[in-house]
Amino acid sequence: MDQYAVFGNPIAHSKSPFIHAMFAAQTKQLLNYEAILAPLDGFEETARQFFAAGGKGANVTVPFKEQAFDLADELSEQARLAGSVNTLMSNKGKLFGDNTDGIGLVRDLQFHHVELKGKRILLLGAGGAARGVILPLLRQSPHRLHIANRTAEKASALALQFSEYGDITGSGLETVPDQAFDVIINASSSGLSGERPNIAATTLHSQTTCYDMLYGKAQTPFNQWAEYHGAAVLLDGLGMLVEQAAQSFSLWRSVQPDTSAVRQALRRHLYAQDGSR
Ligand code: ATR
Repeated sequence: MDQYAVFGNPIAHSKSPFIHAMFAAQTKQLLNYEAILAPLDGFEETARQFFAAGGKGANVTVPFKEQAFDLADELSEQARLAGSVNTLMSNKGKLFGDNTDGIGLVRDLQFHHVELKGKRILLLGAGGAARGVILPLLRQSPHRLHIANRTAEKASALALQFSEYGDITGSGLETVPDQAFDVIINASSSGLSGERPNIAATTLHSQTTCYDMLYGKAQTPFNQWAEYHGAAVLLDGLGMLVEQAAQSFSLWRSVQPDTSAVRQALRRHLYAQDGSR
């Protein structure tokens, strides 16, 4: 049977084995997908062993996505620009690295009928999570993508790096252009410590979609704030998790799984667990 895995540390609570088992059953693919705890100083060795033993593909999660980028022999353009790899595939003895997080976000927004073309998008955060979604967002031809980060210089540097791919600007959180945005995406890790990026409520209007990449049983701090200030649509990152997995699955198996049933099952599953991203 073809072997797949997800590498991370910690990894025990990963939902990827559950998601991929559902995709495999639905598409009648015979495969095994397991969670593998790689030692913090032993990702490369663990991954190499897995592929040397015939492993076909793997997902990579925190904190190994940058190391997976270094490990890959070949990279997709998206992975190269993201600077990180969440999907590895064995290809004729070489390792191909891709990053499906950004397309996962875009697919989730499409699933919820959120238009991006011609829209003003505000992306909060300038760490790995934000970097991973910039190119797929720009590919949707928004009117503008503005990145705002607690450390302003990191947002400006990212905007500069991606400037050839679209209209993109960067600033600190307090100096976001004084206008309302159509879509606001929280890619900062502030929610993990019960906080939210400190942006002005004037960035919201009554038609704004707010998206927090974090998800959990309870509403995230950012989405609580967005709801209080009258955002039209509130979304969390659970759909992105499912969609990035679907993209990995289709890369490995050349078949696109349907995500609806998995979304529902995972949402039910979540109510028995703690939040994560
Ligand atoms: P990740 O891989 O989750 O993106 P990261 O690369 O460490 O993690 O980046 C974390 C991001 O969340 C950064 O943009 C960080 O802002 P700084 O660059 O100023 O550190 C942002 N962040 C973390 N805690 C935050 C908070 N309480 N308020 C606002 N932004 C926060």
